[in-house]
Amino acid sequence: MNQDLEKIRSSLHFERTVVLVKPDGLQRGLIGEVISRFERKGLKLVALKMMQVDDMLLEAHYSHHIDKPFFKSLSDFMKSSPLIAMVLEGLEAVEAIRLLCGTTKARSAEAGSIRGDFGMGYTSNIVHSSDSVESAKEEIVRFFDADELFEYDKTEYLNIYLPEL
Ligand code: CMP
Repeated sequence: MNQDLEKIRSSLHFERTVVLVKPDGLQRGLIGEVISRFERKGLKLVALKMMQVDDMLLEAHYSHHIDKPFFKSLSDFMKSSPLIAMVLEGLEAVEAIRLLCGTTKARSAEAGSIRGDFGMGYTSNIVHSSDSVESAKEEIVRFFDADELFEYDKTEYLNIYLPEL
């Protein structure tokens, strides 16, 4: 890659974020649909796996909700079946992915978003996505080992040259 292109690439805000397809997404057969929306948007899949979460992981992941009245049902729900965890990467990916997911309460989420199109729940709202670059960094380490993250070039990003991108 030439040096100008490399300079522009390194000035762009490529971010990584964690998305979980929660047990209701798995039970309702929405895994492919959810992943497909991120793929079609142009996000780069960096890691993907199915896993069973436990209390220790949930207490860390939802530490800011631990005193809330819904924590017990949230925790029971998240343990009710395996979930899908992934890391996605892209320009300003945290915000882009939160828009694709829609607001937390699925029944009032925007039509066209994942929650808006497929959900009615609050706790069972199909997906989770990191709410900031900082929490994404913590969540990546929480859900993934280093060797589960893949480095590769995604073709469309190789051609990024325009500053307005
Ligand atoms: P998530 O994006 O995983 O982050 C925290 C989760 O807590 C949220 O999605 C919902 O599943 C759940 N949650 C947040 N607020 C409420 C609420 N008021 N009542 C029930 N569940 C909630």
